[in-house]
Order: sequence, then structure tokens, then C-alpha cells
Amino acid sequence: MLKYVGRSVPRKEGTAKATGRAGFLDELRFEGALHARTFRSTIARGRLAGVRLALAGDGFTVVDWTDVPGRNRVSEQCEQPFLVEREIHHAAEPVLVLAHAERDALLAARVELDEEPGEPVLDAERAREAFKTVAIEKGDAAAALASAPVVVEGEYRTGHQEHAYLEPQGVVAVPDGDSLAIYGSLQCPFDVQRAVERLLGGAVRSVRVVATEIGGGFGGKEEYPALIAGHAALLAWKARRPVKLVYDRAEDMLATTKRHPAVVRHRTGLDRDGRLLAMEIDVLLDAGAYATLSPVVLTRACIHATGPYRCDAVRIRGRAARTNTPPNGAFRGFGATQTQFAIEVHLDRIAQAVGLDPVRLRERNALRSGDTTATGQRLGADTSALAVLRAAVRRSGYRRKRAAATDGRRGVGLALTWHGAGFTGNGERWLASRAALETTPDGVRILCASTEFGQGTRTMLAQIVAEALDVPFESVELAPADTSLSPDSGPTVASRTCMVVGRILQHAAEELRERLAGLSPGEYHRRHGTLSVTKEYEPPAGAAFDDERCRGDAYATFAFGCHVAEVELDRDTFEARPSRLTAVVEVGRAVHPVLARGQVEGGTAQGVGGALFEHVTMRGGRMTNARLGDYRVPRACDTPRIDVVLLESPFAGGPYGAKGLGELPIHGPAPALVNALRSLGLDLREVPVRPDAILEAACGSS
Ligand code: MOS
Repeated sequence: MLKYVGRSVPRKEGTAKATGRAGFLDELRFEGALHARTFRSTIARGRLAGVRLALAGDGFTVVDWTDVPGRNRVSEQCEQPFLVEREIHHAAEPVLVLAHAERDALLAARVELDEEPGEPVLDAERAREAFKTVAIEKGDAAAALASAPVVVEGEYRTGHQEHAYLEPQGVVAVPDGDSLAIYGSLQCPFDVQRAVERLLGGAVRSVRVVATEIGGGFGGKEEYPALIAGHAALLAWKARRPVKLVYDRAEDMLATTKRHPAVVRHRTGLDRDGRLLAMEIDVLLDAGAYATLSPVVLTRACIHATGPYRCDAVRIRGRAARTNTPPNGAFRGFGATQTQFAIEVHLDRIAQAVGLDPVRLRERNALRSGDTTATGQRLGADTSALAVLRAAVRRSGYRRKRAAATDGRRGVGLALTWHGAGFTGNGERWLASRAALETTPDGVRILCASTEFGQGTRTMLAQIVAEALDVPFESVELAPADTSLSPDSGPTVASRTCMVVGRILQHAAEELRERLAGLSPGEYHRRHGTLSVTKEYEPPAGAAFDDERCRGDAYATFAFGCHVAEVELDRDTFEARPSRLTAVVEVGRAVHPVLARGQVEGGTAQGVGGALFEHVTMRGGRMTNARLGDYRVPRACDTPRIDVVLLESPFAGGPYGAKGLGELPIHGPAPALVNALRSLGLDLREVPVRPDAILEAACGSS
């Protein structure tokens, strides 16, 4: 019987947040801090011929690329500069940063860029350059397609999506002698540390990165914080003063990463009973101007592109194309959201083509334990695609509501999805994450770099440690996510924190418990001083992945989800209003059921937003609706009732059976909603769905 895992204990940071004591970065005071402002390119592509400054008064610190003491590259693998040198590759690309003690002086500062425009590439389908291509082969898809009795083709499109986290991007850089500290709203402290060290070269002795209280991330604070931290670091290092650089909403939306737009094409061969015989899938992601994380986003997109279905002959081709918009990057779902939109809408079109109910079609093809995925990964006993599908159909009353959809107003549709937790392929092996525990006079302290951005990380990790150590939950504290205190437990991304970092901490707790030899951690500490245990990630036994050929065990395991969406169509305005969503997810073990439900509700709402409300408009490679008044995330009144069901099918490689959860729930809503509209006779193949598209589809079908 478990004492803490599976219980909805109070959140570690709950009281501080509920009482307002927990401050986001802009609320933190740093003695003598300067404000900072970024000046950016206005063209999508071209050359920077010169910069003219008109600064009223003195006290300005000015930094451009010539001030960089180390390497002007945000990451080792990517040519993205911290500050433009000569070539401009996208609009809103940072050219120069300025700091001053007075905000008004910064606002009054005039910087004129002499830009020579070139010809931007704004259409990914016409882009010549690719940052990465992926090829996955299983069996002979061409032969299987040639002999298949039924072939269905289709093209599906998804747009940009803005993370719209509560707190915009922000960092403070504080010089301390020959060292530098960075405080920031960020998901990956060690990635930022490495980036700033690369930037500053030998100019500082050490860089320390501390994650502050974070108002949401969703992948948006995975990579961009390295860039903004670099800007603040350069200014602070040059001015010898703390520098605070906080974006307002418009700048954040204009300049930072978004979800990759995608075009996915399917050619699918089936027998007359609707069994999948062959799948040919072509995935195109619009990467924007720099590679950033696009290669890994593309790989995940491709591996998930079949959806959770069995098929012996699969051919997948992927391409991350270079265009001249700000780089697209990590966003909850990480490419798998886009490709699963495609397959799930495609399957409902297939169901129509073969005259089969969408549930039957999915039941016939859903992955079972022992089946292999497109990369050849054999699935374990925890595989639960069928279980979530059946539970969602029952729970939602799908069949009854589907039969009633003939009224032309209230539609219902579903989507079955999966998500592999942790880094793809050998990623976790390379990361070799570590986490530690140490005794305190009152219990134990967790030392890890995993950040809390609202998802409940710190509470969930403390539950796992309390359970494994058999100590009161209250006696487990967490050191700040601070690179000077904690070992490198990897970035807080990829639905990996619970399954991967939680597992490492479980092992650390088990070893600590043995070494305490019957004493409580506090007693041991008082008698013998601090005892600490550091553990490292252990790859699953026997797992192997070939990165070149994209074959083998891509993830330790997969979590499964099924969304049923009910939608009401307003026949006057052609607006689609989601009225109810049912989300059944299988996550191995829900360590904290209330937080787990919160993740599912939040992911579902964000998925609904991406499907129906959120529309990034661009002109000339520049976002034209970069404010929350024009970019509409779902409000409370737009968000339907969300009925969450958590199923558990313990995974032997996760802490107490837990798998990853954060990203899975964003996959299903968009295809389920589009399939619900299809049940009303509307042929839609693109999100976001806007009323004009519905009107057009309605005209086409009548
Ligand atoms: Mo993420 S989208 O792996 O933070």
C-alpha cells in the first residue's frame, strides 16, 4: 500500500502561490539593476549595413555582436547568433541590446538600422534548404500500396501556435566579481549555463543559473531563454551592474518561438475490412530561420506520424525546411501534435471510404502489446491504446451522440493518440542525467535541476522520494533549481521529469534508505552530519536505437490517450463551439491525481485553442497579431467542460509505474474537434479552423 504516491497532497509551492508571496521574475528586486531593451531587425532577410544610435543623455550600456568575448552562437549545433553580425535571417532578430538605469531613457532611445532587404523564403513548401531530413522504413510500403484493394490519400495542415504562458520571458544577470549569476524564467538551467559560458568564453570564471518562480513554459522556455540570458549577460558583464531584461507580451509574441506549422500527406493502403496494409507519410515542418530544436522535433513528429496503429509496411519521409520567420521551436507535443492531427483526421476519412465506423476502424488497427511500431520497437505489456479508446467511447456516450449528429448542429468526433516520454532514441543515454538527495536536520533535500512552471514537478518528485524513503512528505524539501547546487538532471522537457528524473530520485532514495540503516534522515544527520547520494540515469535493459536509420526503441514506453469532442455549430456565424470534451489518458501511474488531471485539462484546453481560436497571422515573415487581444487563447467561457479519466497501466521502468503525461493531452483535441465537424458533413483538413473555413466547407457540401 503506497502512502504518498497516488495521493493529492498539498503542493510544495502552493501556499506561496496562493498567497501571492511567490513572485515572478519581474517582481524580484535586484539592488542597482539596470533595465534593458532589445533592438531588432525589421526585415525578414537581408544584410545589416549599419546601425545609428540616437541616445539622449549618458548612462547607456550598448552591446552589439562585436562585444561578444566568446562565441556568438546560441548552441553548439546551430548557427543562430545571439546578435546579428551581417546577415539578417528573420524579422525581430536581435541586433543590439541597450541598458540604462531609467526605463524612460530606454524608451526614448532611438536606434536606426540600415537594412538592405533580400528575398525572403516564406513558404516552407518552396524552401530549398532543409535543416534535417528523416527517413523511416518498415517493410515494403510501395509494394503493399500497389496491391492494396483500397487506397486513401490526403493532405493535412496545421498552423503556428503561440505558447501564451502567463509570464513572458525574462532574466536578470548579476555580476559577482569574476562570476556571473543568471536568474530567469526558464525550463532548462544547465542549457542556459552552457550557452552563456560559450558566449562569454574565458571572460568570466563561472556562470550560475537559477530558475525563479516560472509562470508557464509549454516548451516556449526550453530554448529561447538561452538567447535572452546571453543578452542580459553581455550587458551585465559590460556595465558591471545587474541587468534585468523582461519582455512585454507584444515583444514576446513577435520574437520568440512558436509551434512549427506542418503539412502532412498520407497515402494509405487498406483491405476491405479496413486493416492497414501500407502507410506512406510525408511530413514537412516549417522550421523558420535557424535549426534550433527542429531536427529533434521532426524526428519525434515522424515517429508518431502513424498514430498508435499497427502496420507492417510503413514509409515515412520528413523534412524541416528553412524559411525566414523567427525560428519555430519546442511546443508541448513537439511535432507529434501536428502529425497526429493528420493521421486522426485521415482515419475518419478512411472510415467513410471503407464504410466503417471510426471506432471500429481504430479498434481493428490499434497497437497491442507485442506489436511493433514504425521504427520496429516492440511494445510492452503496458500498451493501452484499446483500453483508452473503449473507455472514452463508453464514458462519453459517443455512439448515441454520433447517431444524433444527423441534426446538423451537434457533432461528435474522437481521436486516439500516443506519446513517447523522454528524449527520443539515445537522447537520455547521452544526457546521462543525475539527481541527488541529502539529509537535513529535519529530513531530506532533493537536489535536481527540474524546474517548476506550474505543472507540479516539485510536489510530484517529493512524493516519490517520501514514498521510497518512507519518511513524511513534509520532511522532504527541494533545493532551488540552481546549477551551483544541483547535479545536471537534464532539461525540464519531453514529458521526462516524472518518468526519468523521478526514477533516478527513487533509486537515490532507495540507496539512501539502506545507508541510513534504520535511522531517520534527521537522526542520521544530527549524529553523523550530511549524507548524500547521487544517482544517474540507467537506460532500459536491452533497449537499442539506430539514430542514422531511425530504427529500434525510440522511447522507453508510450502513454496513450483518447479524446472525444462534442461541438455545436452556429449556423448563422459558422462558429464551432466545443461543448464538451472527454479525455481518457493512460499514464502508467498518476503520482498526484489532482495535478495529473490539471495537466490533462490544461493540455486539452490548449489543444482546443490551437484547433479553434488561436490563429497566428503573418505578413512578410512577421507576426501581425502579436497581442493577446488579437490572438485569442480560449477564455473560461470558450473552454468546454472537460471530463478527465485517468487509467493506470504501470510501466516497470517508471517510478511506481509512472510514464510521462505533460504532452499527451494536447494531441487529441484538434483532430477530435475536426472529426466532430466531419460528423456534420464538413470536410475540414486544417487547423486552426475558422468560421470562414467552415462556411466554405458548408457551401462545398450542400
Ligand atoms: Mo518541451 S515541448 O519538450 O518543453
